[in-house]
Amino acid sequence: MNELPHMRKLYTRSVLSEETAGSDPLELFRLWFSEAKEEGELEPNAMSLATVNKAGQPSIRIVLLKGLIRDEFQFFTNYDSDKGKDITENHHVALNFFWPKLERQIRIEGQAARISKEESETYFAVRPRESQIGALASNQSSVVPSREFLEEKFASLSKEWEGIKIPKPENWGGYSVFPTKIEFWQGRVGRLHDRISFERIESSWKRSRLSP
Ligand SMILES: Cc1cc2nc3c(=O)[nH]c(=O)nc-3n(C[C@H](O)[C@H](O)[C@H](O)COP(=O)(O)O)c2cc1C
Repeated sequence: MNELPHMRKLYTRSVLSEETAGSDPLELFRLWFSEAKEEGELEPNAMSLATVNKAGQPSIRIVLLKGLIRDEFQFFTNYDSDKGKDITENHHVALNFFWPKLERQIRIEGQAARISKEESETYFAVRPRESQIGALASNQSSVVPSREFLEEKFASLSKEWEGIKIPKPENWGGYSVFPTKIEFWQGRVGRLHDRISFERIESSWKRSRLSP
């Protein structure tokens, strides 16, 4: 680990001006996301999701962005998981996208809410069958006795549901995050990075440039 103090990357790829940023952060998000996809970023829709429980303990993990619907960021999970419990206790969350090839980061703060059961069912129905069985088999975030326990449960559920349409488990579904703050970061030379932040003020966005 001795090399850690000397590990650094020079960011020279691009710039973020006020002109490019525009006045609508959702539009800029869509543009940057399409560029991340075109660039071949590995899993461009993978985002860190930070939650905080009622004791004030933060927790963070990756989830996949599965929709940007009505300008809200959607992901799917188990409502009884640790993240689900955190959100029940405290609906304030944060998201983070890091696209290293483009030398970009996007930070989002907002409030999470469950999407409708119907919307969750629609997405559950198009998931690969293996993922549907996985959702049935996993009480996400609970302790299991062994790997074998999970595999046996998966095998027995596969047999039980063979040839039958699998319904969405009650405790599985989507959340949408209503963004109140979105910050775009573009790496620049000399650590003078571009940071442009948008804060929601009622129905419009206030744009500011932040010191790197
Ligand atoms: C690339 C990647 C994508 C993931 N996507 C999801 C997802 O969409 N939903 C989900 O519940 N967990 C997803 N996970 C697993 C979570 O990171 C986490 O392990 C799990 O949701 C349990 O988190 P919790 O105990 O904090 O609730 C993903 C993990 C990785 C590395």
